[in-house]
Amino acid sequence: MRSAAERIVRPMTHQPDIERQVEFDFLRATEIAALNTLQWLGKGNKELADAAACDAIRGMFDLIEMCGEIAIGEGIKDEAPGLFKGEKVGTWREGAPRFEIALDPIDGTTNVAKGMPNSLSCIAAGLVTDGEPSLLDVPAFYMQKLAYPLEVRKAWVADPKLPIDIDAPVGEVIDVTARVLGKGVRDVVVSILDRPRNEGLIEEVRRKGAALRLIQDGDIAAALAPALRTSSIDLYIGIGGAPEAVLSAAGLRCLGGGMRARIWPRDEAERRELVARGWGDRLARQFSSRDLAGGEHVLFTATGISTGPLLEGVEVRGTVATTHSVVMRARSGTVRFVEAHHDLERKTIHLRSTQVERRV
Ligand code: FBP
Repeated sequence: MRSAAERIVRPMTHQPDIERQVEFDFLRATEIAALNTLQWLGKGNKELADAAACDAIRGMFDLIEMCGEIAIGEGIKDEAPGLFKGEKVGTWREGAPRFEIALDPIDGTTNVAKGMPNSLSCIAAGLVTDGEPSLLDVPAFYMQKLAYPLEVRKAWVADPKLPIDIDAPVGEVIDVTARVLGKGVRDVVVSILDRPRNEGLIEEVRRKGAALRLIQDGDIAAALAPALRTSSIDLYIGIGGAPEAVLSAAGLRCLGGGMRARIWPRDEAERRELVARGWGDRLARQFSSRDLAGGEHVLFTATGISTGPLLEGVEVRGTVATTHSVVMRARSGTVRFVEAHHDLERKTIHLRSTQVERRV
């Protein structure tokens, strides 16, 4: 047991810990994005769903005392009515803290449009302390990803020769995971985005005899799931969106899980474009979650729209809407699951488009 003196990390400064306050404002932003998107669940219109989520997030950002800048907005692969890189958000009042922000107003827009499970709204942010960006804006469509639980990350830290990396045969990654988690191979649950480009991996998992769970869309929740005590997923592997990799890395930093990710150019033209933009030397690199979302001041919040492996979706009973969210910080490692009950007869939200407080 540590002595009282040893337990002191830093003296009390009597300064407010800004992250502690702002994290709940970000939580409100994803909550109202989810609430405002609900009207589009199953309606077959991705664009209007995305516009509703963005409008709500922008409206909430307008009220937050911060100098915020979008570092990663809608991915270059989405032609969505989104929040884009470089956009300034927050009040920008003098003295307000600086945050760089990565967000996906809806991860799983197709799922929302079809009324299918697994969609959420999420925001990651880094408090800018020394001007250095902490959220890496990777200018690619896709990355290869491998996300794993805390126990596996710790085993790899203890023995870096363990095959926990993108180039290792999937069967070996599954073997290590089974051993570390004390499971049989057939009980190791592996989640993969169901895409032709992931077919080789899907076959490898089937050949190995592990438990495969394919998802249609929404790989941020799938990548965070292995690090959650409440989830049955042990590994997330495969090629998915690059912005989603950075958002997942931010969440995993808070949860304690690990990630490897590498740029996956779709074709020679994209490879050449990446080289021209100065990314040639990083094409072969496997980024860790710390490379993608660095520093100690990383925050992550998400609210479920439709139920997925991370969060339950919005439920409406009578005049009450219930949202399920997670809010967490890398520095403290505190993970809060927040169930909120919103009285729809009283609740108002602030949308950017109308600049008024209106009912949900
Ligand atoms: P959007 O909701 O932004 O469309 O993203 C959904 C998603 O499934 C992501 O979770 C995933 O990373 C990416 O799309 C995969 O891209 P693609 O659909 O092009 O294979």
